[in-house]
Amino acid sequence: MSNEKIPYKIYLEENELPKQWYNVRADMKKKPAPLLNPATGKPCTLEDLSHVFCTELAKQELDENTPYVDIPQEIQDFYKMFRPSPLVRAYFLEKKLGTPAKIYYKFEGNNTSGSHKLNSAIAQAYYAKKQGLKGVTTETGAGQWGTALSMACAYFDLDCNVYMVKVSYEQKPFRREVMRTYGANVTPSPSTTTEIGKKILEEFPGTNGSLGCAISEAVEAATTKEGYRYVLGSVLAQVLLHQSIIGLEAKAAMDKYNIKPDIIIGCAGGGSNLGGLISPFMGEKLRGEADYRFIAVEPASCPSLTRGTYAYDFCDTGKVCPLQKMYTLGSGFMPSPNHAGGLRYHGMSATLSELYDQGLMEATSVEQTAVFEAAEMFARVEGILPAPESSHAIRVAIDEALKCKETGEEKTILFGLTGTGYFDMYAYGAYNDGKMSDYIPTDEEIAKSIANLPKIEG
Ligand SMILES: Cc1ncc(COP(=O)(O)O)c(C=O)c1O
Repeated sequence: MSNEKIPYKIYLEENELPKQWYNVRADMKKKPAPLLNPATGKPCTLEDLSHVFCTELAKQELDENTPYVDIPQEIQDFYKMFRPSPLVRAYFLEKKLGTPAKIYYKFEGNNTSGSHKLNSAIAQAYYAKKQGLKGVTTETGAGQWGTALSMACAYFDLDCNVYMVKVSYEQKPFRREVMRTYGANVTPSPSTTTEIGKKILEEFPGTNGSLGCAISEAVEAATTKEGYRYVLGSVLAQVLLHQSIIGLEAKAAMDKYNIKPDIIIGCAGGGSNLGGLISPFMGEKLRGEADYRFIAVEPASCPSLTRGTYAYDFCDTGKVCPLQKMYTLGSGFMPSPNHAGGLRYHGMSATLSELYDQGLMEATSVEQTAVFEAAEMFARVEGILPAPESSHAIRVAIDEALKCKETGEEKTILFGLTGTGYFDMYAYGAYNDGKMSDYIPTDEEIAKSIANLPKIEG
């Protein structure tokens, strides 16, 4: 099909919207390693996980064989407020770059929380409500997940307690206020409201916090209070399942116009948007029906796939969560606070880690200044002010399009534009003032953190 016939934005009709999520693990011959109970060292059972997570979500976590899961009607109804998200042909960016490549992006920032996180937040709040819980606890890094969860909890009238990484709490007061407006209680982490928070503060006085610390606090808060469970916005298989809505919609929109991407790119923090975007395409690759190149993009300051170790590790700094086999920098790794994005997690989704380990997906890391250069160009030509996290994917999409310019290849590139950057103006300010830097950890620092991995074979 010629370029002219492809609209600037491809939307799906209501009757074309996905009614089921897709679980990519079902098509993996070698499955991700099981989560382990930190107390026994044995694979987690439904009972183990149900102490921490809502029972239905714990079932989804353990189910590696069911390929399609019905999206409950109430979630489909909520999705209609902000879905389908548009698949945009980046004609203006292509022109600016002078590339023969065809660039598409799936824009997930068109809701008040500003990112893809709402896709899973509403699902998790729905299952918590259905179980009759009073509320949920969670952590948030850059703030998008906490905002999304606050919106979802307000919709289902659930109590929402958010532990927000201290540096973000201080740098992003407006995001905090959005959460509070939706009814959430927001606590800077580490805090003195939990035992683990007190311990972390004693060990690292003056720390700016990390996602790993905030997770430990949120888990403690959920498991010590009747009627509460913990919910997590990334990393887990259940979150990738909910986020598969991104890839399913993108694929349906592309199929409508006979477009087949050659390269699919996403930023990777814990891996949820990337996992969701690539899932249906990866399913085809796993079943031998089609081939694609998948690229995970991570920050050079927190390079879990590109410089981490594939091993069992704790998902949190306080070592209270199940152990997961993943590419990790060590649960004690404290990423540089001067990095703007919410990609500062020490590990990576077990599913993506396994796909990467099997050579089915590539990974690359990019430095912050180069990321903001890409963000600036994108904002000026495509009109959307991208989130710093999303801009990692923009950077690599631009680089791949520029390679096509050199070789003359007309490749089709799809990337995930996960959110908007309106609450990241300190970071944009640092970039505009020429004061942005990127701290890249040394091999010694990473080795020191890796030396503390739990000794588990797997
Ligand atoms: C806009 C945006 N994109 C991407 C991410 C990374 O998360 P994940 O790797 O789970 O998609 C975040 C995390 O906070 C985010 O806010």
